[in-house]
Amino acid sequence: MQQNILELFAKRHSFYELNNNMPLSDEEIKHLIQKNLQLYPSPFNSQSTRIVLLLKDKHLKLWGIVLQKLSALTPENRISALSEKISKFSQAYGTILFYIDKNVVQSLQDRFPLYAENFSNWSYQASAILQFMIWTSLADNSIGANLQHYNPIIDNEVKVAFDVPDSWELVAQMPFGGISQTPLPHSFENIEQKLIIRD
Ligand SMILES: Cc1cc2nc3c(=O)[nH]c(=O)nc-3n(C[C@H](O)[C@H](O)[C@H](O)COP(=O)(O)O)c2cc1C
Repeated sequence: MQQNILELFAKRHSFYELNNNMPLSDEEIKHLIQKNLQLYPSPFNSQSTRIVLLLKDKHLKLWGIVLQKLSALTPENRISALSEKISKFSQAYGTILFYIDKNVVQSLQDRFPLYAENFSNWSYQASAILQFMIWTSLADNSIGANLQHYNPIIDNEVKVAFDVPDSWELVAQMPFGGISQTPLPHSFENIEQKLIIRD
């Protein structure tokens, strides 16, 4: 039977209530990420997006770094709310770190000067497409995920902690895991304001 891709898109949400009961094995998660990394589109087929998959104690270590870095920047009276928020992410099963290899962007800028100004922006767009693909592929397997941006505050510590190449720039963090609670539907703006058709 043909799968309805719109139904699949509707299964993807920002899931914040996550746990570490996974319907897929680590090997299956790895395969799913690899498949997406092969399939996503990129400018000039440059494939500049990189991923670091953090599992088990590495996943916990990441959220420890986030808490430590943010605590130093947070007023005393908001630390407990911060800890509560970050602990939700560490309760998930793992985290996918999305990077862009700036060496790839630089080489495109050198090779195609006419488009030099576009390549950086395009590399973020390509990463966003991959993020959405993986987010949706996880939802397809009843795995919840959400999208976080603690970069650039955490960049240096994360690079050292997980031995990430120097030319890789962190662009997003995606905690994922079993779904403890499905979020309530959010509001949608009037579609008429968002789509113009001229015929
Ligand atoms: C580019 C982008 C950046 C986002 N950044 C964050 C973020 O830093 N933290 C967060 O909790 N959600 C983030 N989100 C998730 C949005 O808040 C969420 O997608 C939106 O409210 C719609 O909810 P839904 O994902 O359940 O459809 C981001 C989404 C996008 C597309």
